Amino acid sequence: MLLIRSSQLSKLIRARHISFLPNALIRGLQSSKSSCVSPAVLIGKPEKLQQPKQQRLSSRFTPCSAQMATAATDIEEIPEIQHEEHKLPPHPTGPQQKFRKDYAPPPYTISTVHLNFILGEETTTVTSRLHVLPNYGLLEEGAARPALQLDGRKDVKLVRVAVAGNELAAGQYMVTEKQLTLNNLPPGEFEVEVVTELRPQDNSTLEGLYKSSGNFCTQCEAEGFRGITFFLDRPDIMAKYTTRIEADEANYPVLLGNGNLKESGKLEGGRHYAVWEDPFPKPCYLFALVAGKLSMKERSFTTCSGREVALRIFVQENNLGKVDHALESLIKSMKWDEETFGLEYDLDLFNIVAVDDFNMGAMENKSLNIFNSRLVLASPETATDLDYSRIEGVVGHEYFHNWTGNRVTCRDWFQLTLKEGLTVFRDQEFTADMNSRAVKRIEDVMMLRSSQFTEDAGPMSHPIRPESYIKMDNFYTLTVYEKGAEVVRLYDTLLGKEGFRKGMDLYFKRHDGHAVTCDDFLAAMADANNVNLDTLGRWYSQAGTPNLHVSTLYDAASKTYTLTCKQNTPPSAGQDIKLPVLIPIKLGLLGPDGADVPLRLRGPDGSVTDLGTTGVLRFEEAESTFTFEGVEVEPVPSLLRGFSAPVKMHVEGQTDEQLLFLLAHDSDPFNRWEAGQRLARKLLLKLYAAAAAGGGADNAKDVGERCAAAGGVPDAFVGAYRAVLGDETLDGSFKAMAVSLPTGNELMDAIEGADPPLLHHVRMYVVKQLALQLRPELEALVAANDDKPGEPYHFTAAACAHRAIKNRCLAMLSSLEEPEITQMLLNRFKDATNMTDEIAALSCLVELAGPDRDVALASFYDKFKDEPLVLLKWLGLQATSNAPGNVALVKSLVDHPAFNVTNPNNCYSLFLGFGRSPVNFHAADGSGYAFMGDAVLRVDTINHQVAARMVSAFTTWRQYDKERQAMMRSQLERIVSHPGLSENVFEIASKSLK
Ligand code: PHE
Ligand code: ZN
Repeated sequence: MLLIRSSQLSKLIRARHISFLPNALIRGLQSSKSSCVSPAVLIGKPEKLQQPKQQRLSSRFTPCSAQMATAATDIEEIPEIQHEEHKLPPHPTGPQQKFRKDYAPPPYTISTVHLNFILGEETTTVTSRLHVLPNYGLLEEGAARPALQLDGRKDVKLVRVAVAGNELAAGQYMVTEKQLTLNNLPPGEFEVEVVTELRPQDNSTLEGLYKSSGNFCTQCEAEGFRGITFFLDRPDIMAKYTTRIEADEANYPVLLGNGNLKESGKLEGGRHYAVWEDPFPKPCYLFALVAGKLSMKERSFTTCSGREVALRIFVQENNLGKVDHALESLIKSMKWDEETFGLEYDLDLFNIVAVDDFNMGAMENKSLNIFNSRLVLASPETATDLDYSRIEGVVGHEYFHNWTGNRVTCRDWFQLTLKEGLTVFRDQEFTADMNSRAVKRIEDVMMLRSSQFTEDAGPMSHPIRPESYIKMDNFYTLTVYEKGAEVVRLYDTLLGKEGFRKGMDLYFKRHDGHAVTCDDFLAAMADANNVNLDTLGRWYSQAGTPNLHVSTLYDAASKTYTLTCKQNTPPSAGQDIKLPVLIPIKLGLLGPDGADVPLRLRGPDGSVTDLGTTGVLRFEEAESTFTFEGVEVEPVPSLLRGFSAPVKMHVEGQTDEQLLFLLAHDSDPFNRWEAGQRLARKLLLKLYAAAAAGGGADNAKDVGERCAAAGGVPDAFVGAYRAVLGDETLDGSFKAMAVSLPTGNELMDAIEGADPPLLHHVRMYVVKQLALQLRPELEALVAANDDKPGEPYHFTAAACAHRAIKNRCLAMLSSLEEPEITQMLLNRFKDATNMTDEIAALSCLVELAGPDRDVALASFYDKFKDEPLVLLKWLGLQATSNAPGNVALVKSLVDHPAFNVTNPNNCYSLFLGFGRSPVNFHAADGSGYAFMGDAVLRVDTINHQVAARMVSAFTTWRQYDKERQAMMRSQLERIVSHPGLSENVFEIASKSLK
């Protein structure tokens, strides 16, 4: 299925990025020829690492309670790489950095939690009764028992605290803004009761208990539970929860909690209550509660062992018609996890609630997932193919957390990738199986390259398992999620599907019901397969994207083909020296007819291993050679098939002819696409260099002239695109991606002192040249893929593929800016019967200057003014537009009635969207930067997490030219020195300046 609105591939990337605010395709293109995947033997002597030539890529004691974490004692640990502590300058109000190396088990654990919520319009009262167990072991004689320090938050008012049934008097405890300290505790087990008062209606941070659209809801990951009551707010405290909720019945008819409904009933004064009990021990970050006026749609799923599970989605009444796709996606997810991993759902009820105000994408609370409404609600008229696909992926992701995250959870937050990397990998595989594996892989790699690689090369670079943080919220990153998923994929590639499944089975067998570490995961994979994975373990400790350098040598006399592979990882903050990591190189060799030749790998002892036609080399030294025998003619190598490792690969001496050959013939669809990307990258960088040599240019015309003078777009390049467009064996979604240029972000990595508007104009020049020369092909594809009149919308792979290629062609044609084409786009915009086509046409029109743009935007607003999710699109399109002088329009949108600064989605669409416009955010006069600086400080007074995501727009400042660097830096300095700044924003801004 096609998940891409074809208008601009870069827009896909942007949209995906937002889906992981955290927090997410062609049939017939499976890599069917990847027949034999067996780990190969490493041959060749390890030598000292040589710096590859690059494209500028330089750069846990005694008895613990049953629920406590099991440490990786009997199993090997991921090797430690030396780290210098990445110390930060002091924040004016003194935020504390936490370090992974400081992990210590807590002196007490909690086995059961009884919560009683009295929800009110003014005050909400929470009574929490904890059963506390000692975890401090044997004390020396005369030694005092340790204090119990419970986490809290400024806006949580302590009303009463009692220990073992005795209320404590004022002098008997200590309470600060962040902590409640209890001393002189009784020996053995005891009860603690804490009563707190909250004002959820004033909680604009959307962490803890808050209100959204009049309903009560909670968000506790990572450290939001302390915003509800004083608690040991850390994931290695796993307890059983019972929750009683009491509220006014008319205003809050629906009362939901984790687990099973045990009791409910009416109370005096129009009030009612419900009691929920969760039989599974869980960390507090998985606690959830919802109370409100909600409508529900229900389906049922019979599990593999024959249990009936009720699946319910709760939304506001007017949205009840938009939940079928999410329900269907949930059923598919449940079935897939049974079939793929043997994992069955463990309760009789699974609830999803959609809320409009949510900082991230969605949250996997035990049996009560809470979703950002944009990841639940869909109808053909209001949601695009990309939205449908994201909903399927995120519903899957949250469901899959029930095993990877909830049943087995993280010991501490430094281990976040243990659950997130693994669950993203699982949702990627789910999507690949439901739709097209190749298209999904390409999409994921595009996002990784354009956004995670950038993060990993900048000042916020961190290992997938970070060493330190001030605010954990800031570490829900592309690195932890997406690179983390790539690292999980390394095990899968090396061990094969069966080996991976064995590792997963052992992981659950060892750790079900426990809070564990990344070391434990690696150990389960290694032990289940009886292999050594130490060098894979280094991926958890080292930041930065490794460089892989490959040179090839064909010896006609001996008919051998030798690959010499070198690797290095550039230094990053606090890590100067990096060790070689395990890079699985999946490869094939193409013979003269374009078919794969058999791979016969020679071992160090002269033995030969038959790898079939696609093999996996285990490369884990600074340098190694691999020799294949019986290669009759010099082959064209297809390396890193399926992007088998998240590295930057340079193939020495790779020619355009070889890339064109791969683009035409490679049996690995990923590498076919990749060859086209490499060609386009070379061309774009060459044209950029030529355009930049002519000095600053801020208009498309001058840039175009310079590009033309530098040779323009060669016929061979146009010919290759023509061949892809005309290839009847290729699916439309794949085609759409194959004729899309690498993103500006991706290219920026190879440009010193980049000028973003100039780069934008160069890309647009190439698009326009392609459109000029391929016009007949593009027009034919639009006609061939157009809907038949009256055809209803279907979210199927085939239907999505038609829309993808059609809309991609339209976007290319629109670059011609011919009145006739613009008129056609206006007609398509007016006549569109689904949001995919409507927004595709509108996004073309928004890039044009003139009255058509304004008319289209006004009519779209008018049509959808009561559809808040569609208005997000309307805001986002305007914000990201590269139409000249658009800063003024974006400024005016802040005051538009459709814009609500307290709603995260609104801020993400408008501000983050704006931050992705190469032309207007990066306007040469600094007006874009000033606007964003103001917005960060304003939003920080409302919601720290959202503001911290916004300030990231400045993190890449060192990539740009001197003038822009100075202006961006001065915004960061202004932000860092702002009185009352949140810890969230402080952490990102101060690290960016380092
Ligand atoms: N754990 C959520 C996910 O990845 C993301 C999330 C993190 C949501 C923190 C809210 C707060 O599925
Ligand atoms: Zn997740």
